[in-house]
Amino acid sequence: MRKQFILGLFIPALLLSSCNADQQESISAVLERGLTRSTEQALLMAKELEGQEGKLPKTINKEGNLETSTYSWWCSGFFPGELWYLYENNPTEELKKYAELFTDRVEPAKNLTNTHDLGFMINCSFGNGYRITKNPAYKDIMITGANSLATRYNPTIGVIRSWDFNKDVWQFPVIIDNMMNLEFFTWASRATGDSRFKEMALSHADKTIQHHFRKDNSSYHVVSYDTITGVPHKKQTHQGLADESAWARGQAWALYGYTMMYRETAEPIYLEQARCIAQFIMNHPNLPEDKIPYWDFDDPKIPDVPRDASAAAIIASALIELSQMDNGQFGKDCLTLAEQQLRSLTSPDYLAEKGTNRFFVLMHSTGHLPGNSEVDVPLSYADYYYVEALLRMKKVIGGK
Ligand code: GLY
Repeated sequence: MRKQFILGLFIPALLLSSCNADQQESISAVLERGLTRSTEQALLMAKELEGQEGKLPKTINKEGNLETSTYSWWCSGFFPGELWYLYENNPTEELKKYAELFTDRVEPAKNLTNTHDLGFMINCSFGNGYRITKNPAYKDIMITGANSLATRYNPTIGVIRSWDFNKDVWQFPVIIDNMMNLEFFTWASRATGDSRFKEMALSHADKTIQHHFRKDNSSYHVVSYDTITGVPHKKQTHQGLADESAWARGQAWALYGYTMMYRETAEPIYLEQARCIAQFIMNHPNLPEDKIPYWDFDDPKIPDVPRDASAAAIIASALIELSQMDNGQFGKDCLTLAEQQLRSLTSPDYLAEKGTNRFFVLMHSTGHLPGNSEVDVPLSYADYYYVEALLRMKKVIGGK
């Protein structure tokens, strides 16, 4: 039988330091401050882009201006998804209007077959919208999108193809980020009754356990499979420091991906994998005191290198969910680290003042350092997973 894990199951409020001797701000006050600021910034962003047809926020460019994208960029679903989360927290007509407006801008992505990012694009936007509103039109769009993503699955290898570029180097590249798209497939399986979607998700997750992880449980970024033998012929990086380094966001995607897959399938192997990844992160000597990872755990120039607030937000969100799957010390440790990360992200070091940061919520993320792109900037997915983590923590502490 499919097990469901419900946030809040283990009364972890006991684990959280709501106050300590030196008058630390209560975690509920931290969460409320983060949610209020996120709402203010998201509404400012929505108003700025409302009249710019098809535009969705992406980052700040080198000139300091807001950079936007259309539906086809992999991040198109994050701002609409963030608006849905904020609406869920505070159901105003204004938030709903903007969540719907920006979600609609992502719709053409449903037909894309040249990207593996449809989970991010469609599930974060329409998926959250459908979860909250049950709008049947959203469901149809999602099913079309899931079928588009399914065209990238190779049954011989048993994985979904990530990228179509660099064909002379990679026969069939799969990046660890691709774990994040599997939730779209498990949803599609339930929504359509077609078990094919879930089978593809299980196969992709199993192959990734087999081939993406090193002995220390850190993850490679890119594994390219030989299309004839179905075994990897290259293990490399694209956005990390080196092929053998631990790119911070890659570890975050891995942790979130396996935690989510355990929630979705109750397969113990996924829980075990998530535990191993979490231990790699939480015990890493290069995880700084404020628990916001440097962009790559293995950069020899640490501490003089950029942080990645997006990795911290993704890790915090995943750890909160993982904490609810373990009733022992490990679960407590997950929640403690997530709380530390949320406190740091909600401090002036990372949280933008109202009206600044081109209306993004968080500062100091790193998108693609080796490509000299998006270094120490806000990113729409940092904001999305930050808001998700705030809401998950709020549920866990039961609104205290
Ligand atoms: N999926 C792309 C990234 O994490 O940058």
